[in-house]
Amino acid sequence: MRIFHQIAEYRQWRATIRTPLVFVPTMGALHEGHASLITHARRVAGPDGAVAASIFVNPMQFGAGEDFSRYPRTVKEDEALLAARSTDVLFLPDANVMYPSGAETVKVTPGPLAGMLEGADRPGHFEGVCTVVAKLLNIITPTHMILGQKDFQQHVLLAKMIRDLDFPVNLIVAPTVREPDGLAMSSRNRYLTPEQRRLAPIIYRTLCWAVQAARSGDRDADELAAEIRHRIDTGGLETRYAVICNAKTLLPPRGRVSKEDVILVAAKLGTTRLIDNMLINEEPSHG
Ligand code: PAF
Repeated sequence: MRIFHQIAEYRQWRATIRTPLVFVPTMGALHEGHASLITHARRVAGPDGAVAASIFVNPMQFGAGEDFSRYPRTVKEDEALLAARSTDVLFLPDANVMYPSGAETVKVTPGPLAGMLEGADRPGHFEGVCTVVAKLLNIITPTHMILGQKDFQQHVLLAKMIRDLDFPVNLIVAPTVREPDGLAMSSRNRYLTPEQRRLAPIIYRTLCWAVQAARSGDRDADELAAEIRHRIDTGGLETRYAVICNAKTLLPPRGRVSKEDVILVAAKLGTTRLIDNMLINEEPSHG
């Protein structure tokens, strides 16, 4: 696996390779969820294509008082995981390479969807995500980019950015990978104490229950969302939001839940924020 820290060096390599070039952007602290994205990327790239990953803990997407400084940094282990999954190239820039203008950097403004849900609790988060991904797409120039379904609002916003700003890339969304007890894999799971880790799968269990409930009868979206919140709160977590919305637009359904909807949940366990989601037409599955 080639590792590039500088944009110019990467571009020299890029000029020599054939496409498809399939890109998996990450912030490191890689786990089996990321490994499955790389495996997916390898499949899409085929024998002639290449797989690129990036690791950059993007300061612009963390708010004041969030976990930027304590976000896990495990670069050596990450490199080993990527190499073991046949990643061709890792782009590993530091903040000076990504943001030479510092606070003066021109930013991508993602519009009203960015102020809802995750964005309501984390002002500026999606501006940071869209800006860094726009820059990474311009640097890596992939034919395909793979994102995980777990960060649902993120992929909806990035799909919109790709459309609105005409990035010539195909976005692929890969299913969430779960622990055997259903907890969605996340770099932030390592913040959980053993007791919190024991409580965390209530999110998945509640999503499974809610999807079954929505499928087995005509359900009022607000009532179902209230019941989801109640179950998660009763399970010892603090629900930040539990909403049912259209999976493409993230707009709330008018009254009844439909099969085009998704359930989005964020909940806190101590200081750790967990997010998860399930499509109404998705088959619940572990791991
Ligand atoms: O999902 C993430 O890990 C990050 O938000 C991303 C897409 C790599 C941008 O920093």
